[in-house]
Amino acid sequence: MKQRIDELIEIINEANRNYYTLDKPTITDQEYDRYMEELIRLETKYPDLKRIDSPTSRVGGQIIDSFKKVTHEKTMLSLGDIFNSDEIISFDEKIKKTIKNPKYIAELKMDGLSVSLIYKDGKLIRAATRGDGRIGEDITHNAKTIKDIPLTINKPIDIEVRGEIYMKKSIFNKLNEEGANFANPRNAAAGSVRQLDSKVAAKRKLSCFIYHLPNPEDYGIYTHENALKFMRELGFKINPNNKKINDINELMDYIDYWTNNRPDLPYEIDGIVIKVNDLNDQEKLGFTARSPKWAIAYKFPPELVLTRVKKIVFTVGRTGQVTPSADLEPVRVSGSLISRATLHNEDYVKEKDIRERDIVSIKKAGDVIPEIVKVIKERRDGTQKPFEMIKKCPMCKSDLSKKENESAYYCNNNSCPSREQEKLIHYTSRAAMNITGFGEAIIEDFYNRGYLKSVLDFYHLDKYREELMELEGFGNKSITKLLNEIENSKKASLERLLFGLSIRHVGTKTADIISNHFKNMNNIMNAKLDEIAEIKDIGPKIAKSIIEYFEDENNKNLIESLKNEGVNMTYLKQKATDQTIFTDKTFVLTGSLKTYTRSEAKDKIETLGGSVSSSVSKKTSVVIAGEEAGTKLKKAQDLELTIWTEEEFINNLSKY
Ligand code: IVH
Repeated sequence: MKQRIDELIEIINEANRNYYTLDKPTITDQEYDRYMEELIRLETKYPDLKRIDSPTSRVGGQIIDSFKKVTHEKTMLSLGDIFNSDEIISFDEKIKKTIKNPKYIAELKMDGLSVSLIYKDGKLIRAATRGDGRIGEDITHNAKTIKDIPLTINKPIDIEVRGEIYMKKSIFNKLNEEGANFANPRNAAAGSVRQLDSKVAAKRKLSCFIYHLPNPEDYGIYTHENALKFMRELGFKINPNNKKINDINELMDYIDYWTNNRPDLPYEIDGIVIKVNDLNDQEKLGFTARSPKWAIAYKFPPELVLTRVKKIVFTVGRTGQVTPSADLEPVRVSGSLISRATLHNEDYVKEKDIRERDIVSIKKAGDVIPEIVKVIKERRDGTQKPFEMIKKCPMCKSDLSKKENESAYYCNNNSCPSREQEKLIHYTSRAAMNITGFGEAIIEDFYNRGYLKSVLDFYHLDKYREELMELEGFGNKSITKLLNEIENSKKASLERLLFGLSIRHVGTKTADIISNHFKNMNNIMNAKLDEIAEIKDIGPKIAKSIIEYFEDENNKNLIESLKNEGVNMTYLKQKATDQTIFTDKTFVLTGSLKTYTRSEAKDKIETLGGSVSSSVSKKTSVVIAGEEAGTKLKKAQDLELTIWTEEEFINNLSKY
């Protein structure tokens, strides 16, 4: 049977090569489908014979429970940004201080998300996102569906390459025409890669260009140009528009050319990357903490587009703040469809003199929320009336009031429905209690049905199990999952709860500082104004807001009830600056642990400043060996690494 499987894989790979790489199909679609079906059938019947490089993984189907975190052996750095020709000239001059007559490779800066691909014996074994540069997420199941990413390369070697996953403009437009609502191709690509079910990623038809070889010396390569050539020969897609640059004039020409011609490319680029070609020169130039000194990203200027303000609308946030925003005639700016721009507050609107029916120019750069740059006053036709701030809440019609020294207005009604809903949404958000499974629409619906009135009601939702089952989009499984998520949130560390309560001026950073300082909710509630205000980076405004929040009996009762529900009220995170035995060490867990699940053990290690990797290498600091530890333990012994038993691990944890 193995022979037939190998044979089918060979036929399918050959057909793919002819179709995708050489653009010359050799078999019909029906024949192709028949071979694929036979292979899928055999693999389902004999799962042990399924090869890691099987082309069936291209069509998706593998579903994972959660994204595994992985540690990058070499940090995935980002690039410094420059924005104009003066800065390009100074970059070149700075390089020339160290390198005589430098040569560069100029590349298009793909607007997607970076990926690291690891091959063992020529086979793709791991694909991971950049994450924070050090720790990313394993997305192998989705990467395997991307046709540009070879499952097997042309030499049976071990190698890591890095590049950019992106979505072509045509696919993006088609998806949105079919009803998806992605803001731009980059978001669409990132969203597709972050799917647990690889069938979804397969349907999104992503692409990938490779542009970086992290360990060139392992292959006897000494220029970036040769690294690109080598990777192309291995079967990777390398952008054909990369160009060797001999001097600053050629560089300026390249940048000019692509500034003008980028609309004709089938994908979006947001700039030009300039890299020193000689790898010895690169080494001489070195790195800053975040990025290499031998490369830089020139970013295209943000696009300015004119549109009309249809209406100025008001929303009520979770702290009751009433914010105006401009409802715009939809326009595409830098690839995203824009129909809203924030107007911040009354002073901002008055200062810019933005009026309904005005023609305005708007700008959007990268992830920044669109902003009105200026009003084109010459295009007023006399129907534009000066802006007047509203006096009553747009939702509950209560009076609005202003705090001293603040430009924002707040709804006076503490239980304004808008505000309550926003609070509920905020409570579930990732940086707060991280309860996944709720979207704004579900919360609004549950609120209107009376299932959710305050955050306490999350913990009583099980009462409505029957009713929830009746709702469209909910089944037994999804409700159980949702209720489990809610149950799990009880374990969240104090700073998440504090942030989740929607106390005015308490953002994630403030919540963390306060929680770390006071360690538990009781201490925070009993703290005096001065005690809070004196903490570094806090100050009287925040302190006053916290005191006011806890003076309110309703809020005190809420905390008491949450406590009774079993919601954690203590700070569980170790202060990042506190050194522990775990700080900056890489751990590998192997075998089965009796005390913790893998993910609990990982949480503990990360909380104490360590990281967890899935494979043992020279760089592993400690291997924690549970029962029946196998090859990883053996490898650790061969490499003479530190090995802890489960007992030693628990013992070390208990020191903190
Ligand atoms: S080189 C050390 N080349 O831009 C080398 N990056 O702003 C690091 N990007 O994180 C990257 N196109 O996601 C490189 N041709 C290209 C690129 C590119 C897009 C992205 C990449 C990187 C970000 C930095």
